[in-house]
Amino acid sequence: MLRYGDMTKSPKMRFSSILCAWCLLILLAAASSIAQSAQVFRLDGNNSTYAFGVNERGELQPLYWGGRLGPHDSIPAAHSSREMASFDSPYTTTPQEYASWGAGLFTEPALKLTFADGNRDLVLHFVRATPNGSQAIEVLLKDISREIYVTLRYSIDPDSGILARSASIENREKQSVLIEQAAAAQWTLPPARYTLSYLTGRWAGEWTLNQEQIQGGARVIESRRGTTGHQANPWFAISRDAGQNPAAPAIADEEHGEVWFGALAWSGSWRITVEHTQLDAVRVTGGFNPFDFGYKLKPGEHLETPVFYGGYSDHGLGGASRLLHRFEIAHILPQAPDPKPRPVIYNSWEATEFKVDEAGQVALAEKAASIGVDRFVMDDGWFGQRQNDHAGLGDWYVNPDKFPHGLKPLIDKVHALGMDFGLWVEPEMVNPDSDLYRKHPDWVLNFPGRPRSESRNQLVLNLARPDVRDYIAGFLDKLLTENDIAFLKWDYNRNWSEPGWDQVPVDEQKRVYVEFIRNLYAILADLRKRHPKVEIESCSGGGGRVDLGILGYTDEVWPSDNTDPFDRLSMQEGFTYAYTPQIMMAWVTDSPHWYNHRSTSLTYRMLSSMQGSLGIGANLNHWTAEDFATAKRLIAAYHSVQRTIVRGDLYRIITSRDGSQMSATETVSNDKNQAVVFAFANATTEGRGFPLLQLQGLNPDAEYKLTWIEGKSWPGTPESASGAWWMRHGLQLDLRGDFQAASFHLDRQR
Ligand code: GLA
Repeated sequence: MLRYGDMTKSPKMRFSSILCAWCLLILLAAASSIAQSAQVFRLDGNNSTYAFGVNERGELQPLYWGGRLGPHDSIPAAHSSREMASFDSPYTTTPQEYASWGAGLFTEPALKLTFADGNRDLVLHFVRATPNGSQAIEVLLKDISREIYVTLRYSIDPDSGILARSASIENREKQSVLIEQAAAAQWTLPPARYTLSYLTGRWAGEWTLNQEQIQGGARVIESRRGTTGHQANPWFAISRDAGQNPAAPAIADEEHGEVWFGALAWSGSWRITVEHTQLDAVRVTGGFNPFDFGYKLKPGEHLETPVFYGGYSDHGLGGASRLLHRFEIAHILPQAPDPKPRPVIYNSWEATEFKVDEAGQVALAEKAASIGVDRFVMDDGWFGQRQNDHAGLGDWYVNPDKFPHGLKPLIDKVHALGMDFGLWVEPEMVNPDSDLYRKHPDWVLNFPGRPRSESRNQLVLNLARPDVRDYIAGFLDKLLTENDIAFLKWDYNRNWSEPGWDQVPVDEQKRVYVEFIRNLYAILADLRKRHPKVEIESCSGGGGRVDLGILGYTDEVWPSDNTDPFDRLSMQEGFTYAYTPQIMMAWVTDSPHWYNHRSTSLTYRMLSSMQGSLGIGANLNHWTAEDFATAKRLIAAYHSVQRTIVRGDLYRIITSRDGSQMSATETVSNDKNQAVVFAFANATTEGRGFPLLQLQGLNPDAEYKLTWIEGKSWPGTPESASGAWWMRHGLQLDLRGDFQAASFHLDRQR
């Protein structure tokens, strides 16, 4: 698998079922010289086919992406378009697989650069195609006269049909070139009417699903923040509208219709442009954000882009997300293909904030252990002179006043209670009020002589610098070597400002956008290698750093600092369009909630969090005996069905979007032997009952027995019935009131 920044890892993807026909075509292509004749390359996986070819001018052109074609079907060869009018060159009207800016290109380029002599014209032509085993193909392109080579990499996962695409740009000129724009890939869809879905948000309000018809022009989703960001997430889905009648556009369907989707594996500034061209083609370009980009590529150097994953489903957005979930589990996560279900954690942040000490943490740990928690995590406040967010970041020694004997007594106690121990860190940051900053004020991103804008009283260490990288790698290694730590919550609580790097020549300083992230990935990879048992969570003030890049190195993410259980329902729904519930940490915290001041029952909070990977973040010192009993019972129930919840096929049966009064999800285990359902009545009005729950994804002929975790149905509901009954007849829940929740599971009997 081609994973950016991790090229030495052994491949995790197996591509055994690539069609022989495809291999033959590749061999034909590889054997022939530069494209004079029509050449077509085809990849098949699961239910999809992807094809591209070389046209008579030697350009690489997309030919097909959609439902799987017959093994013997031929794909018409690539042909460049004619000049439509004097305003549109044939180069711009011909869809390009990886368009370089030159020759009158007016659509979004994948690659734009400036040569040392001022030439900015770049026209890439096909050189050769090389199969990489039977799993993938690399296509070499070259400028028509200059020594700029681009290798396009393709691989397809036979189980999901998800393609991994990336590019490597190589400078074999005698002088440097400046890369001003570099995409990982461009995707082309057939001319049709479409609806675009994408995710936006803000701190404590992440994961809003936006849907809009794709119109002429371009929709840009991006981060200019140096990191993935809360503002938008590098994921898209494009649904073909039902019917092609422009007067009656249909909105994307959850379970029906064709959907093309993609996700970018990059944790730095990124951009995805969805373009509806003049000729009604829909093209998606994604990669490094060209804003403030400028990568000086010296002779002999090459620039690797991130990987842009793309897939196709003919089962609506639900089908698309189920494919992505399976793919993430099987190929992206560090423990792929069989990551452990997340331990149920306790985290003390909302209970104590910075006021951590040995006695207080031990008291919480004892209570957490009593309800069946697996992992105890101490959050911010344990290090340096950290009393609040004004000081201490960067000084990663244990605070001697709070922990006079170091962390060992607490860790030993946590172990004795039968839990493992996790710790919060924020390695890339520094408070100006810290020993580290006083010693190394030049270590932060900054432009000399300009103000250094603080956020949460902190500055960003410049990880692109080798000394900073080594410092961070060093202190983390020491921390994990000296203490028995099973888990790190890796936080990142601000975005970039003044992104200067004055230790390198001016024309190389913008490389910071790439080198910072490369070093971040390298530190994480190295740490995992040295401490293979340590698991890591990616947190960035909640969900500010969630993407398929960081997920190659982290086992879970913190989706939001907003733990309000009602807000979480729609956030969790948005999250799962792109990411698997396996990585979606969800804590039960106190009521009334600190953010919305909403009061909810512990049962409602528990069931909301049980839709993902469960955690407890409440102040257990305030709990009643009844609270402990409820939590203990529900954690035990969660443990018994967790694998289905986090690894099964997710169906969003009733959406929780837009403050929906009622919502429900169902997850079906891969073997269809178990289904787990969560239902929420958030407001009951005019006596309306809960909508009929018609389940999905079961085996219609199998018999399933109903077991309640919480709640009840109307009298007469059978204790056991066929999959057909649960799916077609459906079940009527007795669920009314405000912020009420129910949950049950169905288990296959025969
Ligand atoms: C961020 C995280 C929180 C908590 C605090 C600690 O906001 O998202 O969960 O860890 O930092 O300062």
